[in-house]
Amino acid sequence: MSGKATVISPANIAFIKYWGAVDFDRAIPTNPSISMTLDACHSRCTAEHVDGSGDDEVHLAQPDGSLTDAPESFVRGVRNHLDRIREHTGRSGRFRIATANSFPMGAGIASSASGFSALAIAATRALGLEPDEDELSELARMSGSGSASRSVSGGYLEWPAEGSGDRCHAKVIASADHWDLKDVVVLADSSEKKVSSREGHRRAASSPHFARRRELLPARLDATRRAIAERDFDLLAPVLEEEAIELHLIAMSSRPAIFYWKPPTLAILETVRELREAGCPAAATMDAGPNVHVICPAESEEQVFDAVSRVPGIAGVIRDGVGRGPRFSDEHLA
Ligand code: PMV
Repeated sequence: MSGKATVISPANIAFIKYWGAVDFDRAIPTNPSISMTLDACHSRCTAEHVDGSGDDEVHLAQPDGSLTDAPESFVRGVRNHLDRIREHTGRSGRFRIATANSFPMGAGIASSASGFSALAIAATRALGLEPDEDELSELARMSGSGSASRSVSGGYLEWPAEGSGDRCHAKVIASADHWDLKDVVVLADSSEKKVSSREGHRRAASSPHFARRRELLPARLDATRRAIAERDFDLLAPVLEEEAIELHLIAMSSRPAIFYWKPPTLAILETVRELREAGCPAAATMDAGPNVHVICPAESEEQVFDAVSRVPGIAGVIRDGVGRGPRFSDEHLA
């Protein structure tokens, strides 16, 4: 028997960051994180399940529709995740996978989050299964990319919301309709980053700032939950920037140190500060990369886009915003 499914699954941007883990392989985080699911930044994945033995086939789909071989490390990550899915579902057989991103891979836009959530959803559907969102979140997390657990639903999510060990999954705390926030993603550099976030999680506890961050987090988590519930951008904005700077403070002071910033990163952060001083609500956040996500209410998106587009040296701007989560598609990649 064979089954085929295609899923479009979005990236997400963390307001409260996942940085540091108690179990690196299973991605059990040190602290809860809160994110907004994106829309324009997504991965499309076609999974076809076929009976029989042999290696899973993994291809990258190009814009012209052709399929190319994926890099070896990418193939390894996908096959490992498919092994976990086979183990979890008790099913055998192999998969043919084709995948494509709407944005540059490995550049600090959560390509692993959208990629692994798309893979988990497409592979289980190709097996004829329909796991609920909690189980999909756990399966996506088991890829080793914890943030993938927050890409299986739309709106605003907290992870872990409940459950421990392998039942550690994300939960929606507000829908996409609840608050129309935008994310203007400014690419400071679109090349692949040199130190993976997996390695960043491993080094985090070696920073002298890691323990202090854990003391500060409960108040920030509360403020973020409240800001989302009450659609209070003034409450959210300072938390967003504190979180982004602290993630990079910890990375830069880890042993060995990790520097994700590039020269345009600082110029973008300054532009966001100037916008705010001029009365435009906007706040910057960053994941493990040089790019800056400018979060703002829908009314200020145009002004933010105009200002950041003029920053010298940037590699591009992507207009995104809160999204409704993964969806199935009949447009298969292979
Ligand atoms: O999911 P990972 O292992 O790629 O880690 C993601 C870490 C950050 O993007 C920096 C923060 C987050 O919570 O998404």
